[in-house]
Amino acid sequence: MRIFTGRAHPQLGFAICKHLGVTPGLCEVGSFSDSEINVRILDDVRGLDAFVVQPTCLPVNDNLMELLIMVDALRRASAGRITAVLPYYGYARQDRKHEGRVPITAKLVANLLVEAGVNRVLCMDLHAQQIQGFFDIPMDHLYARPVIVRYLRQKQFAAPVVVSPDVGSAKMALAFCQALGGAEMAIIEKRRSSGSEIEHGFVIGNLRDRDVIIVDDMISTAGSMASAVAIARQNGAKSVMVAVSHGLFVKPAWERLAEVAPVEIVTTDTVPQHAQETPPDVKLTVLSVAPTLAEAIVRIHRNQSVSALF
Ligand code: R5P
Repeated sequence: MRIFTGRAHPQLGFAICKHLGVTPGLCEVGSFSDSEINVRILDDVRGLDAFVVQPTCLPVNDNLMELLIMVDALRRASAGRITAVLPYYGYARQDRKHEGRVPITAKLVANLLVEAGVNRVLCMDLHAQQIQGFFDIPMDHLYARPVIVRYLRQKQFAAPVVVSPDVGSAKMALAFCQALGGAEMAIIEKRRSSGSEIEHGFVIGNLRDRDVIIVDDMISTAGSMASAVAIARQNGAKSVMVAVSHGLFVKPAWERLAEVAPVEIVTTDTVPQHAQETPPDVKLTVLSVAPTLAEAIVRIHRNQSVSALF
């Protein structure tokens, strides 16, 4: 087995290797002056079980292309099996034709990965579970939920209610409720007026005098989350905290979040976090999913059940 990491999130790749007590695979990944990416695998990988850790986060296209090129290099170096480890799957939100003449880019990405030579995929908290069906190769889907729930449990909330900021995340919220030992659930109705502008409507459930935990797969521009936090307050929440698997925090996320000031934002290291960008009055907690990914990688390598992890 050999674990390689691209430049998208080397800290995560190294943390996975550290957890497993293995040395990261040796490779050179760089860019020519015209921005073309060049890769050279330095280890002999012939017949090996190779894993490439690369979330396709910002810059999405560069990170995706780099992953494809690394996979191509591994395939041409006769790796026995190549698993793309995508803790965050960029383009996942473009998963259907919601209107005429638009692409299904999440499927295009799946096609590109397979065409490049990926034999298996390991993902975490896909925006929509159906994306698994875009692959005709084995795909293992992990959840950050156990890591986040372990943290939330320490808070010992007296009256928690798990809130989904839209109907799409309701299933995720329900899973959090169950994992938190039967916490109540509420749903906020959301309409998107553009890619980054949100209109929130009515609330299904009771938030008055409750400790609200809003869960979602990701925060990008925080349009959805900031609006949901504001609605929770308007509906009488005692406290509001936020938990997401993927904290992208794309502009103007921090401005929006600072304005509505949730008590705390909890996220994971599926994508790199830059503490220096967090406004001083926002409490950001980053939990590591490296142990979860490491355990899944070992299980895949040993042909053991991955779903047993959950
Ligand atoms: C939407 O369906 C997703 O679950 C997220 O709520 C959304 O993509 C987050 O984007 P933003 O932070 O830009 O509102």
